[in-house]
Amino acid sequence: MKLNIEKTYGFVSKEAVNAFKNKADEAQKMLVEGTGAGADFLGWLNLPEDIMPQLADIKATAELLRNNCDIIVCIGIGGSYLGAKAVIEALSNSFEWLQEGAPKIVYAGQNISEDYLYELQQLLQDKRFGIICISKSGTTTEPALAFRLLKTQLEQQQGKTAAKQLIVCITDKARGALRTLATKEGYKTFVIEDNIGGRFSVLSPVGLLPIACAGFDINLLIQGAQHMQKVCGIDTPFEENPAAQYAAVRNALYNSGKKTELLVNFHPKLHYIAEWWKQLYGESEGKDHKGIFPAAVDFTTDLHSMGQYIQDGERHLFETVISVAQPQKKVLFPYDEENLDGLNFLAGKRVDEVNKMAELGTMLAHVDGGVPNIKIEIEKLDEYCLGELIYFFCRACGISGYLLDVNPFNQPGVEAYKKNMFALLNKPGYEKESAAIKEKLGKA
Ligand code: PA5
Repeated sequence: MKLNIEKTYGFVSKEAVNAFKNKADEAQKMLVEGTGAGADFLGWLNLPEDIMPQLADIKATAELLRNNCDIIVCIGIGGSYLGAKAVIEALSNSFEWLQEGAPKIVYAGQNISEDYLYELQQLLQDKRFGIICISKSGTTTEPALAFRLLKTQLEQQQGKTAAKQLIVCITDKARGALRTLATKEGYKTFVIEDNIGGRFSVLSPVGLLPIACAGFDINLLIQGAQHMQKVCGIDTPFEENPAAQYAAVRNALYNSGKKTELLVNFHPKLHYIAEWWKQLYGESEGKDHKGIFPAAVDFTTDLHSMGQYIQDGERHLFETVISVAQPQKKVLFPYDEENLDGLNFLAGKRVDEVNKMAELGTMLAHVDGGVPNIKIEIEKLDEYCLGELIYFFCRACGISGYLLDVNPFNQPGVEAYKKNMFALLNKPGYEKESAAIKEKLGKA
């Protein structure tokens, strides 16, 4: 993985980036020594090493589900599903019904749409399916609701005893309704450690079990992460440390008025990597009324929709492009005798060459238009490179949050909607909030 920040220097000076050196070194120390805000949530930092003893159990459990299921439903929301989905989508065939030898992975508990759940129930009707239910707290409404529905369906289809073998829960080691239920029913479980927050949990069983169920090599993923842990470690000087450099340049850009970061890809398979990244950075930095707004675009698709704004709208944007050096497949553009479409100048070229020129042309146009550009190049879309990318983003996020003087590891802002929802649903224990919200709505 290579980071290139040269195309930001027309907008922020090298001095402005290097001005973060001492603070970035300090942030690295705070992460490693656990002396900064949110130090109780640093379990992800050494996860690439710490997870090793669990890999065999994760793989064996995945094998069991793979052998017995045509569909595996991964239940979870936010940090409890986005990382797995990001990696699975990035590695899967774009037309997933063509994916050979792997059960289909579908998702639930990431919304409360009745239509979605109805259609999922229809899909699972009379199918061999299994469930991985992931909730650290074990009390989140969306996954709990989906789990009750799908567990009931599985038990009706398979009988209670057989269903038990097809359910795996990933949750807190002792607390929460999901732990209580799993213990009572005797489900296979994995633990989400107290010191790992959802958005930093991809390299724990939360991400690894679904990824292994989809048939991908979690050892390689972890090897990539281990390599990146060394590259981004405290011993790598600021000037050569990609995580520290990325954290510094984005904070320098933020201070210069570039308040929105667009994560850009030129491969649709990376769409969910961007969704995961949005959560990672949005939830880690968006607090105390500050923080870069993380947004994402899929190019060249969105150049035909958002391209106008990016080129020419308000100048508060910068772009971070994930560039993939080598596509995994090969398509040559054919020669056509008649050349009615005028495209013979491309004959014999790989499609990726066209994509790369679109990427280069876009970067030049956007930089000319006032949008600074950061480039993150990965070699290819495989497990190893994704492991590198995931660890890189996590490490940079911790540093960047400390540069911004926020606690990157809490998320106090996500509670407000839940309180209102429970009050509106008359949840027992929310009587006071219920009365207050009804009065506010004029329904008292
Ligand atoms: O990153 C986070 O902490 C959140 O996105 C949580 O993962 C999400 O809210 C789900 O919580 P839980 O795993 O407790 O069900």
